[in-house]
Amino acid sequence: MSNFVRVCSVDELTDGAGREYAVEGQMLALFRIGDEVFAMDGLCPHAGGPIGTGTLRKDVVTCPWHGWQLNVRTGQHCLSANIKANTFPVEIRDGEVFVEL
Ligand code: FES
Repeated sequence: MSNFVRVCSVDELTDGAGREYAVEGQMLALFRIGDEVFAMDGLCPHAGGPIGTGTLRKDVVTCPWHGWQLNVRTGQHCLSANIKANTFPVEIRDGEVFVEL
């Protein structure tokens, strides 16, 4: 059964940037690219760094701790096919962001 949880409004998110949220015991990183929002595990798959505070360029975020780069649409590491962060489905309903946990 799906469990979509409201996280924030779209307006809280800066276009071209990420932001961290703690939702139901889960750290989430939300990234806004124009009208789209993507959700990823907020803990970097390298060593648990705050990936949501990383720098976003197009659809790639760079972790602030050691520079790993992940595609926010897929969670895929940009250099290693074996590394992928968890991502979560997102729905935007009336300007509100819901994430399926
Ligand atoms: S914790 Fe993210 S690159 Fe090391």
